[in-house]
Amino acid sequence: MRIVKYVFGLSVALLAMSSQSCTQARPENKSGHDLWLGDITAPVTAKNTEFLSKYDKELGDEGFRISKNDKGEAVIYANTEAGLMYGTYHLKRLGECGNLKLDKEIVEVPAFKYRILNHWDNPNLTVERGYAGKSLWKWEELPGTIRPEYEEYARANASIGINGTVLNNVNADPCMLTREYLEKVKVLADIFRPYNIKVYLSLNFAAPKHLAGLKTSDPLDKEVIKWWNEKVAEIYSIIPDFGGFLVKANSEGQSGPQDYGRTHADGANMIADAVKPYGGIVMWRAFVYAPESKDRAKQAVEEFKPLDGQFRDNVIIQIKNGPVDFQPREPFSPLFGQLDNTNIMAEMQITQEYLGHSNHMVYLHPMWKECLDADTYQKGEGSTVAAETLGKVHGNTDMSAIAGVTNIGDDYNWCGHPMAQANWYAFGRMAWNPELSSQQIVEEWIKQTFTSEKKFVAVVATMMLTSREACVKYEMPMGLHHTFKGPDHYGPGPWDRSSRPDWEPAYYHKAAADGVGFDRTSKTGTDAVSQYHEPLRSLYDNVETCPKELLLWFHHLPWDYKMKDGKTLWEELCYTFEDGIREARSYIGMWESVEEYVDADRYALIHEKLVRQAKDAIWWRDATMLYFQQYSKMEIPADCTPTQHTLDELRRFRLGITNYENPAIDRLPEYTLE
Ligand code: GCU
Repeated sequence: MRIVKYVFGLSVALLAMSSQSCTQARPENKSGHDLWLGDITAPVTAKNTEFLSKYDKELGDEGFRISKNDKGEAVIYANTEAGLMYGTYHLKRLGECGNLKLDKEIVEVPAFKYRILNHWDNPNLTVERGYAGKSLWKWEELPGTIRPEYEEYARANASIGINGTVLNNVNADPCMLTREYLEKVKVLADIFRPYNIKVYLSLNFAAPKHLAGLKTSDPLDKEVIKWWNEKVAEIYSIIPDFGGFLVKANSEGQSGPQDYGRTHADGANMIADAVKPYGGIVMWRAFVYAPESKDRAKQAVEEFKPLDGQFRDNVIIQIKNGPVDFQPREPFSPLFGQLDNTNIMAEMQITQEYLGHSNHMVYLHPMWKECLDADTYQKGEGSTVAAETLGKVHGNTDMSAIAGVTNIGDDYNWCGHPMAQANWYAFGRMAWNPELSSQQIVEEWIKQTFTSEKKFVAVVATMMLTSREACVKYEMPMGLHHTFKGPDHYGPGPWDRSSRPDWEPAYYHKAAADGVGFDRTSKTGTDAVSQYHEPLRSLYDNVETCPKELLLWFHHLPWDYKMKDGKTLWEELCYTFEDGIREARSYIGMWESVEEYVDADRYALIHEKLVRQAKDAIWWRDATMLYFQQYSKMEIPADCTPTQHTLDELRRFRLGITNYENPAIDRLPEYTLE
């Protein structure tokens, strides 16, 4: 057996340190930059690492074993450098979390083959739905200037098992495929390579027109095919291990094959054929909908089911967790259970577009796990979204993948809200092992990021573990969805009008004198329930059995509808909002109770944000229930938190932010907490 001392990334670390001519100014005496890795600028090494003499199939290219040697020390075994690296980080994690036991051999193999971050970063440094400053990628400085954050980013990702990153926005600027940009991308690819991270790019489907002046970008046109083949050859000549492409086509104004009367399969296959000889993949998004449709939630299945079996084997259809758009709660997208002969993957959103941006503490793992654990029943019980996307239902585990839209920017603390780092961490850990519980992951994160002090871990874990459900309750309880004011997706505005009917809250909540909620039932509604297999179809279709959490997603009900607990629907809504307000408010006291364990900077920042979160909870209730009250003509119960603004005041309020920023706390409506 060959024994090697494995110091991954060291040479690159030195290179990066010697070329730090232009670094971001860092505030002094502030903590929060180092993430869960402690000193993120230093490589992590293990004492004993060994390559296995014979390739161990069970471990594959990324797995590892850890066992004890004669001296009682931990030894990491793997087939590859990547395996040793992941083992090294795992050992560090176990040690820091107080979970290192060597009585039994530890064996770890990642569940998903492709574990990918999606950056929605633009060449002009804005980040679509980015709430942590500007893009981490300083395109104007590249390829000449290399910032230390590039390698720190790679190290943080490697520590949680991320092995791919799409660098640019799905609303892709064609310039990303120019030689000039590819030379910049190459620099990042070179930095990430020792960390087993491949780079991918989002492409603009009309690139042949934009970049080469071709008359068309028709995927069946010979010139177009030739252009893509040559472009792909050029990319691989610069970045030999380029991962492939992510594509948003014929969605929200993006160009696509349908512009030329072709199908998604025609478009995806053309690109897939071009990257196939190099081992590249195409992640083709199923996020498609058109304003004419009566139910946006049905459209992905309507468009993609007829194409099942037509996609090349290196295409993966990337499906958002829910059928609409990353709402605080959605049922899982029915498309996960509708394709038999097509590779599929889930797209989760790490950035909190619809969950309070980086002002709210919302730990998202419970939401993602809810989706992965949901049973589609496609092939009977056990056909969970996790099993579907791991390729276990149809027996193609070779193309398993999962993507997360990142929350990373150039803010000193990376993610805007110090607690939002936990979502980046959790996504990586979940992609490695979807069976891990929300609690295990959050406790790991807290211990590595703050302290293992028992009281601190218990209090903060409770806050975080309940935070997603609290957010659902104070923003959009009982299956309400998309009731935001305007395109920034921060505050409430159930009255809001916009240019497209399917971007207006009324399209979703349908509040009127006769009640509230979207009727997606089989008899009177859009029949979206039929896109689910039994027993779910009937469960959702029947108002008696539909889970309360999804009631107004699937049903339109009168304001005085009697709930199982005897309350009217109106009362139930009021009290659910109230629970959300109470929970959000309770986080402030909980945080204050652990002040002694946290450094002053992070304590103060998180405290300020928790106060705003609690105020926003009341704002959401005021706006939603005062608006609904016009139709229900019912009173908010006297034992609920009193409203603090009139509907008119809230309607007049303008936040005035772009889709690239987190609102400053002093721009938000005034609220007081008693
Ligand atoms: C949402 C989001 C957009 C984004 C789109 C997508 O609609 O608001 O900013 O481009 O999703 O996922 O493509």
